[in-house]
Amino acid sequence: MRIILYLGKGGVGKTTVSAATATAIARRGQRVLIMSTDVAHSLADALSVELSSTPVEVEKNLFAMEVNVLAEIRENWSELYSYFSSILMHDGANEVVAEELAIMPGMEEMISLRYIWKAAKSGNYDVVVVDAAPTGETMRLLGMPESYGWYADKIGGWHSKAIGFAAPLLNKFMPKKNIFKLMPEVNSHMKELHAMLQDKTITTFRVVLNPENMVIKEALRVQTYLNLFGYKLDAAVVNKILPQSSSDDYLQSLIDIQTKYLKVIDNCFYPVPIFKAKQSIAEIINTDRLYELSQQIFEDKNPADVLYIDDKTQILEKVDGKYVLSLYLPNVEVTKLNVNIKGDELLVDINNFRKSIILPNVLVGRKTEGADFAEGSLNITFAN
Ligand SMILES: Nc1ncnc2c1ncn2[C@@H]1O[C@H](COP(=O)(O)OP(=O)(O)O)[C@@H](O)[C@H]1O
Ligand SMILES: [Mg+2]
Repeated sequence: MRIILYLGKGGVGKTTVSAATATAIARRGQRVLIMSTDVAHSLADALSVELSSTPVEVEKNLFAMEVNVLAEIRENWSELYSYFSSILMHDGANEVVAEELAIMPGMEEMISLRYIWKAAKSGNYDVVVVDAAPTGETMRLLGMPESYGWYADKIGGWHSKAIGFAAPLLNKFMPKKNIFKLMPEVNSHMKELHAMLQDKTITTFRVVLNPENMVIKEALRVQTYLNLFGYKLDAAVVNKILPQSSSDDYLQSLIDIQTKYLKVIDNCFYPVPIFKAKQSIAEIINTDRLYELSQQIFEDKNPADVLYIDDKTQILEKVDGKYVLSLYLPNVEVTKLNVNIKGDELLVDINNFRKSIILPNVLVGRKTEGADFAEGSLNITFAN
């Protein structure tokens, strides 16, 4: 069983690359499910089929579904909200409850994650490809496996309290389905899913990006947070690359900009492997086109494989009370080293190449105290 999650900024081609990956895997003979959590229904467009939250077989071995998070909330989870607003009206604790609900972790993402769990556990697929929502919420949820447990405990706690004090009053506001019975169950699913997501032989994350400044920054942020939470990035896919040259001045200027940013990408993601796809003139709207794109990206490699394994790309640790960020840079001989911070960005100049890293929030605003290079790792110490 493999789970492959594609992340990246909106519009870069996540849905297209995810669908291309799934098509290639299916045509190599493995059963694959591609799942999109995007409300824009772009997966259905890329595959030119109608999709719903029940998987359909698009072609041999290729199954696809679109999770309709909002419909699911409306059907199953909205009762929670209405239930608590009933309590709000009849219990004295309006403000407290309101605030607690306000800091609830992303319900939508939790529902999407639960679909991933279901697909992975179903035994129906060799590979599950997820075209994930690129929001901060997703990253937060991936980073806080316990938050769901915390939330479930809290709600369970309120529930028993409410029953104790105001049962007669509240009975008529009780949800029809017993949502509270479901809570611990969902909690254990979340824990199981988290273990699967952290198992690098099962789950790998891939980032899709374009050779553009803002897009690269977002992709680097993805890398930083994946590293921080112990998830593995096994590839970066650079999409929408223009031809190498053009006789048209306007196009040539765009190409020059891309060339510059392609170099930046090479430096910044090293040693994670980088795959490339050209900007296509034809619309990519069926599995044959998607397959062609997958051939361009992965060539003779199997996209279902774990494409890179490494435990030490970026490690953030506290050593003697100070944060030390270690960057793994194998096969680099360091003769000249310079480390600078610009806003939330760490710029590392090694010899003649520059690597930039988006700092996790705990490090933003701190100064560096020193840097040393040992056994292929650059270790940067931050001041308290
Ligand atoms: N390599 C490519 N060449 C041409 N068009 C592309 C390519 N990759 C994606 N597109 C198009 O770009 C648009 C955005 O792609 P999409 O996969 O929906 O991005 P995302 O899921 O990241 O928002 C779509 O219209 C898609 O068909
Ligand atoms: Mg999309």
